[in-house]
Amino acid sequence: MSAPVALITGASRGIGKRIAIDLAESGYDLVLTARSSKTTPGRLPGTLEDTATQVENWGRKALVSPLDVRDECAIASLAKQVDKVFGRCDLLVNNAALAPPKPALKDSTKRWRMAIDANINGPFYISYYFVPLLEKNGLGRIVNISSQAATMPDFQRISYTTTKAALEGMTRAMAFDLKGSVAVNCIRLEIPVWTEGFAATLPPESALGFEHPVIMSDAVRWLAESPITFTGRVLTIGDLRARGAVRPFTPASIKDL
Ligand SMILES: NC(=O)c1ccc[n+]([C@@H]2O[C@H](COP(=O)([O-])OP(=O)(O)OC[C@H]3O[C@@H](n4cnc5c(N)ncnc54)[C@H](OP(=O)(O)O)[C@@H]3O)[C@@H](O)[C@H]2O)c1
Repeated sequence: MSAPVALITGASRGIGKRIAIDLAESGYDLVLTARSSKTTPGRLPGTLEDTATQVENWGRKALVSPLDVRDECAIASLAKQVDKVFGRCDLLVNNAALAPPKPALKDSTKRWRMAIDANINGPFYISYYFVPLLEKNGLGRIVNISSQAATMPDFQRISYTTTKAALEGMTRAMAFDLKGSVAVNCIRLEIPVWTEGFAATLPPESALGFEHPVIMSDAVRWLAESPITFTGRVLTIGDLRARGAVRPFTPASIKDL
């Protein structure tokens, strides 16, 4: 029997990278997507190949696919490639997202569309093209990553708040449609987790109260192992800790800072 396969979006750095490496440790082969690769590095540190090396260090396979989650055609082709290479896909983690720093009403409408496309259309395209593969092997799982910002009108990032609230709505509606074949859940991350992307927006000393991204791996691994009937939930890290799914407070170590 072949190993289970997980696809992670936003796997070049931050939370997505950590989840990918920890799923490899749990025995998954990985499909890694993001825009930053060795040949097209991004502004921040991290490439898909860096993550792939760490996945392979656990003895697992990594399929690297540089793509923009806004690119529907690229996602459709990737689904065909994953079917050909692995013949299965068991878990999708819709993690990639962007938070335009400028208040939306003072920014361009182009940046508004970028946020909608990356944070909502991206997870929909990934789900749309991969659900047939998730269903092929029986019991699939989708985990969407939201933020406390979904519930905060005063967050001052209208596009981020809007798209994360929509992602939570999409989770519940998709879970209803896929009941019995694919469990669809969402982690509403309400705690600051140290990542390259988040840190880039802050002065270095403010990283000290952050938790380690491994708490998100705990949450994803727990959801991946939950019964298929556990679906349509939007859960915070606090909710998951109360269920024993996520380790206690784990600060980002000096090494991460
Ligand atoms: N860190 C926190 O405290 C926190 C709190 C609440 C929620 N979250 C959520 O957690 C998730 C991960 O956040 P993070 O802190 O790890 O962010 P990050 O360090 O900025 O990483 C974001 C990832 O998404 C990818 N990405 C962004 N736009 C993309 C696009 N258009 N196409 C493909 N990939 C794209 C980036 O890769 P490339 O640049 O290489 O494409 C990167 O791998 C996000 O959904 C975020 O909203 C984080």
